[in-house]
Formats: sequence, C-alpha cells, structure tokens
Amino acid sequence: MMRWLRDLWRGGKAVVEPARARDARRLAQLHAASFRHGWGESEFEQMVIERNTLIQRLRIGRKLAGFAVSRFGADEAEILSIAIDASYRGRGLSRDLLLTHLGHLAGRGVRSIFLEVEENNAPARRLYEGTGFAVVGRRERYYRQPDGEQLNALLMRRDLF
Ligand SMILES: CC(C)(COP(=O)(O)OP(=O)(O)OC[C@H]1O[C@@H](n2cnc3c(N)ncnc32)[C@H](O)[C@@H]1OP(=O)(O)O)[C@@H](O)C(=O)NCCC(=O)NCCS
Repeated sequence: MMRWLRDLWRGGKAVVEPARARDARRLAQLHAASFRHGWGESEFEQMVIERNTLIQRLRIGRKLAGFAVSRFGADEAEILSIAIDASYRGRGLSRDLLLTHLGHLAGRGVRSIFLEVEENNAPARRLYEGTGFAVVGRRERYYRQPDGEQLNALLMRRDLF
C-alpha cells in the first residue's frame, strides 16, 4: 500500500520513538486498558530510566497510541509488554512497533528474545508468529482469571542473528 494511503488509514503517520518520563501517565492508562493487572504510573517512570529496559512509544500525530517494553541483559531480552490503544488496533501498527523495537534490541547486542503469551490471545499470537517468533514451551494454567479460570501460557523465542 502507498505510504500516504497507509498513513491516512491509520489516522496519521505512525512514529516509534523512546518513551519519556512524562508519558508515564498515558502509558499506565494504556496498560490498564489492555491488561488485567495494570502497571502504575510510577512503574513506568522507573522503567523509562532503567538502563536495562527499553521502552518505546508509538505516536500518531499528538496521540500516544501504543508502547513496547522489554528488559535485556547480556545477549538476551524479554518482551515484557506490548499494547496498542483499542481504537487503533487491526491496522498493522503493532507489527511496525515490534519490528522497530527488535531492531533497537539488536543494536544493543541482543541475539535471543523471549516472551510469554496467553494461548488464546489470537491477535498477539499472530503478531509474534508473523514477526519470526516460534513456540518453545507451554506453561499449563499459568494465568489465573478473576473468575478462577486458569489459562495456559506459551513461551516464544526469536533469534536475531
Ligand atoms: C496484540 C496487539 C498489540 C495487536 O495490535 P494490533 O495493532 O491490533 O495488531 P495488528 O493490526 O498489527 O495485527 C496483528 C495480527 O493479528 C491479527 N489480528 C488482529 N486482530 C485479530 C483478532 N481479533 N483475532 C485474530 N487475529 C487478529 C491481524 O490480522 C494480524 O495478523 P496478520 O499480520 O497475520 O494479518 C493488540 O491487540 C493489543 O494491544 N492487545 C492487548 C494487549 C495484548 O494482548 N498484548 C500482547 C500481550 S502478550
């Protein structure tokens, strides 16, 4: 698709850039809207300054529409969280965000990346499978729902080189 047409469909030009401490409130809001156990503003403030954490925001115009955060050490990293504002989902934005994020991890010397995903989270699984991650393990009844239901986690891995 032509770039200008894609940008129009997405609601503006999407830019992936480092998150700042002043984004913490919006990041916490986005996280709480996307996950059952939301991270607080102070946790995001902390992650922005940690040297072993990479946190990037996805901005569309003036709107912070998503983020990706991972922690790295030696040549390995773990994707801790990725989310797109519900009103911007289904437009391929998470793919661009994740691929850019992986590129920055590669630039820091990371070679292997791990993550956990809930087995029934179809959009997330499609995202990870489509960006080169493969299932390397399964944790039975890993996530507990508020109603007591227990869901399985898949452990995924991608090698960058
Ligand atoms: C997972 C998430 C980041 C995907 O963001 P997104 O920008 O909507 O995703 P994309 O538009 O890039 O689509 C990613 C893939 O999922 C597919 N997809 C999107 N919505 C889907 C749905 N409801 N069911 C099945 N597949 C779906 C897309 O077709 C695409 O696959 P393709 O590239 O093979 O066509 C987003 O749904 C989200 O923020 N979810 C809540 C937080 C979360 O679960 N994060 C992951 C934790 S491990």
